[in-house]
Amino acid sequence: MATQYFTATSLDGFIATEDDSLDWLFPLGNVADTSYPQFIKEVGALTMGASTYEWMLRHADRVSAETGSAWPYTQPTWVFTHRTLPAIAGADLRFVQGDVRPVHAAMLQAAAGRNLWIVGGGDLAGQFADAGLLDEILVQVGSVTLGCGKPLFPRRLTQPPLQLQSVRQVGSGFAELRYKVPRRDAAS
Ligand SMILES: NC(=O)c1ccc[n+]([C@@H]2O[C@H](COP(=O)([O-])OP(=O)(O)OC[C@H]3O[C@@H](n4cnc5c(N)ncnc54)[C@H](OP(=O)(O)O)[C@@H]3O)[C@@H](O)[C@H]2O)c1
Repeated sequence: MATQYFTATSLDGFIATEDDSLDWLFPLGNVADTSYPQFIKEVGALTMGASTYEWMLRHADRVSAETGSAWPYTQPTWVFTHRTLPAIAGADLRFVQGDVRPVHAAMLQAAAGRNLWIVGGGDLAGQFADAGLLDEILVQVGSVTLGCGKPLFPRRLTQPPLQLQSVRQVGSGFAELRYKVPRRDAAS
């Protein structure tokens, strides 16, 4: 079981434009060619922040056309927000706020030995890292730059550094990188 932050990013470290567009991402490759199909099979619970969830809400028609459902995940999902957001039909959702630690504990229990996926955004992944609860970062580095936008991971993790575990090329559109996050004191 691992807590994994799996995401695509631009070469310059943004996971969405400043106005939450992902239109730059989809032309870069076919998801079936990436590590995602194998990755998602091993996921037992998901968490995401409000902007990521709202992207799913706004693009329900597109997601439905591509996956057959407005909510393509069967796993229970914890959405962090301070607001009341509408539910998506068919989604197994819990809306939460504040400290990530009790949510992580609940996710572990629900996942029953499978991995936990932090979908995004970057600061939410950072909150799990701050609490010493992030094990791996798996990034698909897209062959584009955005100049500005929503950050991949707005934290300074230098000591000890991340440990690069694997590198894989997916056509000319992506480099998939897998990093282990070494254990460190939660406060450092
Ligand atoms: N490239 C990719 O593969 C990929 C992957 C995932 C996401 N994305 C995109 O990247 C963007 C990420 O947006 P983002 O950086 O704004 O991050 P986000 O985590 O999706 O949303 C941030 C919001 O989540 C809520 N939140 C976060 N932590 C919280 C906490 N501890 N308690 C309560 N609420 C909390 C807050 O919303 P409120 O206070 O407003 O409720 C906060 O403003 C989205 O557009 C998403 O679609 C891209």
